[in-house]
Amino acid sequence: MSDEPHGLDRGLTNYGDRDFARFLRRSFARSMGISPDLLARPVVGIAMTPSDFNNCHRTMPELVEAVSRGVLAAGALPRAFPTVSLGEVFLNPTSMMYRNLMAMDTEEMILAQPMDAVVLIGGCDKTVPAQLMGAASADLPAIQLVTGPMSTGRHRGERLGACTDCRGYWARHRAGSIDAAEIAEVEGRLSVTAGTCAVMGTASTMACIAEALGMSLPGTAAIPAVHADRLVAAEASGRAAVQLIATKIRPSQVITENSVENAIRVLMALSGSTNAIVHLAAIAGRLGIRISPERFNQISDETPVLVDLKPVGQGYMEDFHAAGGMGALLRELRPLLHLDTRDIEGRTLAERLDEPGGWVDRAVIRPFSDPVSPVGGLVALSGSLAPDGAIFKRAAATPELFESEGRAVVFTGLEDLSRRIDDPDLDVEADDILVLQNAGPHAAGMPEAGYLPIPKKLARAGVKDMVRISDARMSGTAFGAIVLHVAPEAAVGGQLAAVRDGDRIRLSIRDKRVDLLVAPEEVARRMAGFTPPPMPERGYKALYRRTVTQAPEGCDFDFLTHRGAPRTP
Ligand code: FES
Repeated sequence: MSDEPHGLDRGLTNYGDRDFARFLRRSFARSMGISPDLLARPVVGIAMTPSDFNNCHRTMPELVEAVSRGVLAAGALPRAFPTVSLGEVFLNPTSMMYRNLMAMDTEEMILAQPMDAVVLIGGCDKTVPAQLMGAASADLPAIQLVTGPMSTGRHRGERLGACTDCRGYWARHRAGSIDAAEIAEVEGRLSVTAGTCAVMGTASTMACIAEALGMSLPGTAAIPAVHADRLVAAEASGRAAVQLIATKIRPSQVITENSVENAIRVLMALSGSTNAIVHLAAIAGRLGIRISPERFNQISDETPVLVDLKPVGQGYMEDFHAAGGMGALLRELRPLLHLDTRDIEGRTLAERLDEPGGWVDRAVIRPFSDPVSPVGGLVALSGSLAPDGAIFKRAAATPELFESEGRAVVFTGLEDLSRRIDDPDLDVEADDILVLQNAGPHAAGMPEAGYLPIPKKLARAGVKDMVRISDARMSGTAFGAIVLHVAPEAAVGGQLAAVRDGDRIRLSIRDKRVDLLVAPEEVARRMAGFTPPPMPERGYKALYRRTVTQAPEGCDFDFLTHRGAPRTP
């Protein structure tokens, strides 16, 4: 052990007398009934996120207990502490608005409290990105542990899991093929265990990305929340955190340009959530790493979709785990990966993949030679409607809509959308393009409103997909021909603000473009009268609006992105 302060002696409270500060801290720590022997040991912090408003974190108490067991068994003192917890469906206006708050809380509490390493326990969509962002900036040795996915339920002989099936059943209810009594039955059968959404949505994608980056223990991303192995993984994470105190491996050594590229490969092969692009940009941005849209598309075009899970395919996360999980996927992707990246245990990816793999269910994790799709699930778009970029999930869209030109039907904001989308008098046809403005990060915190519902009168006529364009996000569990994350957003004067009903728009996935077919002079004339929405005057929302960046920068706060060397605690 070096002479640097460690354990409870780190970061003493400022009283102007260090010895008094140490004496007082130890005295108060004794009041927790901990022996002097344990108090003298290295400390592993456990960032826990239980909340009665977060169903996905229901198992947090037993996970904290298992991590603590691992820490104690390896000879250190575990200290759990709370941070903000974000339950996706319990937050208004959208959990995305609070991801940066949780990231700040995580970073500051890691640095302000006396710990030598930290285990971060998260799961629901925004929590893992927030914890990784905070850990990257704090740059103290850290391990990510996820709560794990839900297991599936059953309804009239069909297997169900949140939340692709939530959307599928709701769309059938809107179209009139499922009545109120049946949808009430389905409500109780979609989310039947603790854990995160059961498909390859944002939470599952981010769990896999955390492992691909090297920030989680190998093989832990997909273990179901209620499986005994989830607790074994928690105990192992506690032990590994104690090892980290000795090796001093920091997030900035694990999250590198190469590991971020590996994570993008995994995202493509999973056909993962579009939200993960924003989160990964924010995590990488904390360390000054940026992947260009051109490189993103190159990776997408080179990387096949290998995992057959909803919302794109058939299976659920429990199937992915049983099929071999991330280890099996990484072995298939091996020729495309940077093998020199190191994980939190200090092993290179090559060393991990050199170990013998187990049995693989090829119905769920396909061989490289027989992919679900020969190209990745996501593409970055440019064009006159999205000069700074947009995202399209080609794996989850109707291929017949990839090359489309249509008439714009414009909604000026979320209220306008909910007021008029089902109006029987709405002038809309199946080959029109639905456009939603003012739902970007600055205007609205970038809610998951990009999955605009098919207008009821078209849904009842059998229309299942349409081109939809917005500056919003969409749930990782959703699907459709949907252009998202248009940047710059409408509320900061992006071209999206200039679109009017009846304008022609062209989408070309082949050319990776989305264009507004209106003369530039006319666009300039329309934008001459542009006024940004009023700014909130106080509190977190004012901070958010003043400092949030656009989607390509990860919607982080501008003052939290990387400036120079990482902070040293
Ligand atoms: Fe938490 Fe889906 S609601 S992961």
